[in-house]
Amino acid sequence: MQVCRTISQLQRALAALPRPLGFVPTMGYLHEGHLSLVRQARAENASVAVSIFVNPTQFGPQEDLARYPRDLARDRKLLAEAAVDLLFAPEAEEMYPPGFATWVEVKGLSEHLEGAFRPGHFRGVATVVTKLLNLFRPERAYFGEKDAQQLAIVRRLAADLNLGCTIVGLPTVREADGLALSSRNVYLSPEERQRAPLLYRSLKAGYDLWRQGERRTARIIDEVRRTLQAESKAFRVDYIALVDEETFQEMEFVERPARLLIAARLGRTRLIDNLPLK
Ligand code: PAF
Repeated sequence: MQVCRTISQLQRALAALPRPLGFVPTMGYLHEGHLSLVRQARAENASVAVSIFVNPTQFGPQEDLARYPRDLARDRKLLAEAAVDLLFAPEAEEMYPPGFATWVEVKGLSEHLEGAFRPGHFRGVATVVTKLLNLFRPERAYFGEKDAQQLAIVRRLAADLNLGCTIVGLPTVREADGLALSSRNVYLSPEERQRAPLLYRSLKAGYDLWRQGERRTARIIDEVRRTLQAESKAFRVDYIALVDEETFQEMEFVERPARLLIAARLGRTRLIDNLPLK
């Protein structure tokens, strides 16, 4: 596996890679969720490239940029074992040199839910993803459904900016007890880790109600909230929402493919999860 730290190294390495190219952007500290994206990319493309970049512009001033977990040596080993051809791991100055002044904003999809609780987050994500897709020019790029709003935003920007790349979304990978894999799970204390799967169980209660035929959003959301609060007072809920799968607009009745979403804080850790209703 070739490792590039600069854009000029990357451009030379990309020129030599057989096409089609599958690309997996990450912030590192890889887990099985990332590796499932890499495996899918490996199965569908002649070459696979991965980026590891803890993108500073998608973190708010009070967020966890400084303590975000990093282990490049371990990540490199995992990616080499997964037969990745190229790893791009730039420093922040390489991606945002002095004078950087261009931002990508996806209106309508970015302001609510995660966007409301993390102002500026999606501007940072949309900008770095556009830069990465522009640098790699992959035929396919792979993203997890765990960050469902991010995935909807990336689909929108790839279409709007004619990036010529197919965006592939893959299902959330979970621990045996249902907790969605996330690099941030390392922040959880042992006691919080035991409690954390309740987030998934609460979503599942709403999902089960929908499966039984309930179509009123308010009832489904109530069920999620009730399940969470009945079992633990430890979570501070940011939002529970049911939205159209594509537009991410809230709906009164579930009549189209939809997604049930939750974001909550457990101690100092903010967790998000979602389930598709389709
Ligand atoms: O999902 C992530 O890890 C990041 O938001 C991404 C897409 C790599 C952009 O920094």
